[in-house]
Parts: sequence; structure tokens; C-alpha cells
Amino acid sequence: MQKKWHQIGAFLRFYLAAQTRYQVHSPFVFDFVNFVLEDQRWYYAFEDIEALRREMRRSPVVLDMADHGAATLGTAPVLRQVPVRQLARTVASSPAQGRLLFRLAQWMRPERILELGTSVGIGTMYLASAAPNARFITLEGSEACAHVARTNLGILDLHHRTEVVGGAFQDTLLPALQQLGRVDMVFFDGHHTEASTGNYLEQCLAFSHERTVLVFDDVYWSPGMTAAWEKVKQHPKVTCTVDIFDLAVAFLNPDLGAKQHFRLVPGRFKPWKNW
Ligand SMILES: C[S@@+](CC[C@H](N)C(=O)[O-])C[C@H]1O[C@@H](n2cnc3c(N)ncnc32)[C@H](O)[C@@H]1O
Repeated sequence: MQKKWHQIGAFLRFYLAAQTRYQVHSPFVFDFVNFVLEDQRWYYAFEDIEALRREMRRSPVVLDMADHGAATLGTAPVLRQVPVRQLARTVASSPAQGRLLFRLAQWMRPERILELGTSVGIGTMYLASAAPNARFITLEGSEACAHVARTNLGILDLHHRTEVVGGAFQDTLLPALQQLGRVDMVFFDGHHTEASTGNYLEQCLAFSHERTVLVFDDVYWSPGMTAAWEKVKQHPKVTCTVDIFDLAVAFLNPDLGAKQHFRLVPGRFKPWKNW
């Protein structure tokens, strides 16, 4: 219940403060708005991924899940039985989030992508479809989820260039970073606690460079995640952040000038701010 109130309060604060492209003066962020936030182009990949989601939403399969995200850092995973249809409906990235991820990857053209938290592979498929030449590693604690994700990637013929690694982030993150050598894009979408997010961020930053983009889901899911996002914003390596509520994005490029934080909505959500 406390989380629900936090989410409602955070949304109201976000919405009241949010700007549209007409208040943005940074050319880089203006491009972000045009290419990522406002772009309405439709791609065949969206149809294919959402058809797979629809199939999963009808699936009678129940997975035995080892949930590392529900465990405290360093302790054993919590064992749960979770229907695939629930993962497809409520745990996976939404269609709107998927399209944002797709357009962000299409705009940034990452060559090496890392995702923390695969679940059944919905976000993975959007990212992999947008960056056909990227090396992509995605990490998932539940072997049962990882198996479903691998099957989905196979159906869309994305499995040749996307590796789903099973195991706790605590064990898999560093080897994955070492295997990639550097990261151009990281999607943080699992283990939503303040301490673990900070920990994984520092590990990823050690393999980042000036053009790396860091994407965070669920920064308003709990007070702890919002505190984690505030720490990301204050991090000395972060030069610009864009919060679009559904996702929050941090850029490290020092050429972007003095550190700036943006909260943005598409113009149609604030029509009186469209000039
Ligand atoms: C929100 S889901 C990921 C959704 C996915 N990124 C998408 O876009 O559809 C988070 C996933 O992270 C996994 N996870 C959470 N904490 C973890 C940890 N410490 N180690 C490994 N996996 C973890 C969970 O098993 C869960 O499947």
C-alpha cells in the first residue's frame, strides 16, 4: 500500500513538472524527443513481438521461478510458481515501453547491449530488433524464464546474436561485462532495490564510455528505487538525464554541457504547453 501511494504521488509530481519539446533548449535532448518520445512510426517487429505476448497471455503454463529480485542481496532466491500469462501481462515491459526501448536503440545505435532482467524476453526482443548488429547479453535469475525467453528469441530469429545468461546478477554481471569488453547501452530492469541498483550501476560504469546510455525501469516503483534514481542523477559520471516516467535514461557524454535533468512528456499529454 505504501508503494501504491508513493507511485501515485510520484506520478503527480512528475506530471506537474513535466515539459514538452517546446521547453527543451538542449539540441541533444530535442533530438531525443523527436526520435524517441514523439516518433510514431510503426515497425513489423512490433507486430511480431506483440503476437508472441498475446500467445503467452493465453498460455496455461506455470513456471517454477527462482526469484532473486525478491531476495535480499546475497541471500537465496525466493521460490514461487508464476503463470507465464502473468509474466507476459504484468512483469514484462509494456508495448509502449517496448516501443520506447526500440526507438532509443535505433537512435543510439549501440553495438554492445546488456540487459539486467530478461523475464520472458519482451524488452530483449524490442532491443534486439532495433539493433541488428549489436552483441547483446541479457541476464535472468530464473532458469525457467530464461528458457521461455530463449524460445521466444528463436521464434523471431533473434537468438543468433542474443545470449540469455541464467543465474543471479551477483554472479553473472561481471563475467558478462568482461565478455562484452565495454557497454554502449545497459537496461536495468531487475532487482529493484536501492542498494542493488547502486551496486550494479557501479559495475557497469567501469565498462562504460562517453557514449554509453543507461536505461532504468521502475524508478518510481518504491521509495528505494526513487532514491536510487536520485543517486544516478547525482553521479559524477552522469551528465544528462531524461525521465519519461515509463523509463528513465542517463547519458554520460561530457560534450552535453552543464549537467541537466529533464522530465518530459509527449506534447499530446500537455497540449497547452505546445508552443
Ligand atoms: C521486470 S522483469 C524484466 C522484464 C524485461 N526486462 C522486459 O523488458 O520485459 C525482472 C526480471 O529480473 C529478474 N531478476 C531480479 N533480480 C535478479 C537478480 N538479482 N539476479 C538475476 N535475475 C534477477 C527476475 O527474475 C525477473 O524476471
